[in-house]
Amino acid sequence: MPLFDVYPLYEVTPVKAKGVYVYGADKKKYLDLYGGHAVISIGHQNPVYNRKLKRQISRIGFYSNAIQNPLQTQLADEIEAQSGCNGYQMFMCSSGAEANENALKLASFHTGKTKIVAFKNAFHGRTSAAVAATDTPKIIAPLNAQQEVIFLDFGDEKGLTETLSKGDVCAVIIEAIQGVGGLDMPTEKFMKQVENSCRENDTCLIADEVQSGFGRSGKFFAFQHYGITPDIISMAKGMGNGFPVGGILAHPNIKPWYGMLGTTFGGNHLACQASLAVLEVLKKKKLMDHATALGEAFIKRAESIPGVKKVKGRGLMLGLEFDFEVGELRKKLIYEHQIFTGGSSNKKLLRILPPLTVQQKHLDQFFTALEKSL
Ligand SMILES: Cc1ncc(COP(=O)(O)O)c(C=O)c1O
Repeated sequence: MPLFDVYPLYEVTPVKAKGVYVYGADKKKYLDLYGGHAVISIGHQNPVYNRKLKRQISRIGFYSNAIQNPLQTQLADEIEAQSGCNGYQMFMCSSGAEANENALKLASFHTGKTKIVAFKNAFHGRTSAAVAATDTPKIIAPLNAQQEVIFLDFGDEKGLTETLSKGDVCAVIIEAIQGVGGLDMPTEKFMKQVENSCRENDTCLIADEVQSGFGRSGKFFAFQHYGITPDIISMAKGMGNGFPVGGILAHPNIKPWYGMLGTTFGGNHLACQASLAVLEVLKKKKLMDHATALGEAFIKRAESIPGVKKVKGRGLMLGLEFDFEVGELRKKLIYEHQIFTGGSSNKKLLRILPPLTVQQKHLDQFFTALEKSL
């Protein structure tokens, strides 16, 4: 049976991975500066991660959410301690889209309203409301187009005020650093205005931290660079270092009721252990400080390279913009230099999303390869 052919594939077949390296069936060793799309946070085959998952699967891997699972509470407490998001309540699911779907649904339940405000170039996932709030018309099926979503530019203060003041918007959903869209960030002034307008108009502010969360930006959540307090925070990717796990954090003002949200797989024992391992390593290895320091050094070095038009992002969520499309450059980096990088919907942008355990020598290896390839 053929696979449903929706992805163009590179000619690499990973058979093993360790740390920041992926090993191909071709016997080549690839430097992973893509992190399997910002998913690998604490490195491939991390010993803490492997130990926790192996131990858990030998006891119980899964049971439904109808029983007590103290691992969920342990995880919620550790996220609270490390993020400083005090008093929030956690609901778990299994992917980023699902996290945003639940976030949007919760905002609608909480406010009783239906419209969404999202931003140009946003990416929030491929499920119903999440895809409708994604600014890529070709992936929005007619079925999804029923959702009422208003897309604004980052910085469109007038548009934001006018739209929210109509009183029918349940949520503003925002990435503090755009991922798929190409690493654009709102200004501090605009982010504060988003927060204030949401407060004034009984609209939930949703911070989509699916890609930028769990330390990737140098803080636990990227919105924390702005000092704002979202009503709902969505998380996934780096949360599980490859295990499918996602979740939302809901502000203490948002009250739950039985049946409001639900899931079969979300928050299972293995998912919790994967995320607990990520948190243990994040803390022990001080990976957020490490991401900040390496990100700053990366930006400085990248800015000195002729041909690099702009350097974007922060921490280890970075982008290099050129004045040409980077498709061929990415192929050269993979096939000639064995380095994985990412693309984005901005075709001229190369994305760098390594495991947070990456070292300076790996980034030096990238710059040498980049200079040779330009
Ligand atoms: C910011 C953001 N939100 C949501 C998603 C969707 O996550 P998933 O692919 O796990 O559904 C992504 C995926 O790239 C993302 O970058």
